[in-house]
Amino acid sequence: MKTAIVAGATGLVGKQLMYKLLENDNYQKVYALVRKLYEIKHEKLIQILVNYDNLDLISSDICPTDVFCCLGTTIAKAGSEEAFYKVDFTYIQQIAKFFKKRGAINFLLISAVGAHADSSIFYSRIKGETEQAIRQLDYEGLHFFRPSLLLGQREEMRIGERVGIGFAMLFQPFMFGGLEKYKPIHAAALADYMILRSLESKKGVFIRENPDF
Ligand SMILES: NC(=O)c1ccc[n+]([C@@H]2O[C@H](COP(=O)([O-])OP(=O)(O)OC[C@H]3O[C@@H](n4cnc5c(N)ncnc54)[C@H](OP(=O)(O)O)[C@@H]3O)[C@@H](O)[C@H]2O)c1
Repeated sequence: MKTAIVAGATGLVGKQLMYKLLENDNYQKVYALVRKLYEIKHEKLIQILVNYDNLDLISSDICPTDVFCCLGTTIAKAGSEEAFYKVDFTYIQQIAKFFKKRGAINFLLISAVGAHADSSIFYSRIKGETEQAIRQLDYEGLHFFRPSLLLGQREEMRIGERVGIGFAMLFQPFMFGGLEKYKPIHAAALADYMILRSLESKKGVFIRENPDF
């Protein structure tokens, strides 16, 4: 029986993932790392109010097999490149290290299309550096999901994202071949795909992008 931890469980993908894991019989327990507790109650769900600056506060009983990392911010929301880096690199690396020490087997990270440590685009470079750092940790199964724009109901308004989605939907019929990886994807579909991949329990490093999803 597997146990899952979801970092970023209140986000667009993280929330879908958490609910889907709760419904999935292969998972015995689901730990959700949150900054604000959900009102829901579920026999399999354990919510953990987390301080990413001090993960050692997480009870030593919590040793998941699979770590789903849906954490992330935007430069606009974080307020600066440094603040973005802290979430999208430092926190993610710390989570990966922390749960590896606790015996986790699989790490599944939502990265982003174009992630590359040598990229001239800051966002893509940090995503690439994060992937690179996590590769060093020797998880048995390491999955990097590189979506383009994510579709779904978001409570907050992100103007840039909305505009990007509008354009992408318009040009979607022309996105094939090498452009297919830029097709937007529904957060729920990505969550389903992540669970599917985790259940295969394959060893190795896997990079997934559209049209895989
Ligand atoms: N959205 C897109 O179109 C898109 C495209 C490609 C890749 N991605 C990547 O996919 C991942 C998931 O995206 P998403 O849109 O589902 O994310 P999201 O809706 O913005 O959710 C992000 C999650 O990270 C948490 N978080 C953010 N800043 C934090 C901080 N300083 N401390 C603790 N927790 C923090 C949020 O917690 P709170 O709810 O408490 O704020 C939330 O649970 C991200 O890494 C993103 O970069 C997104």
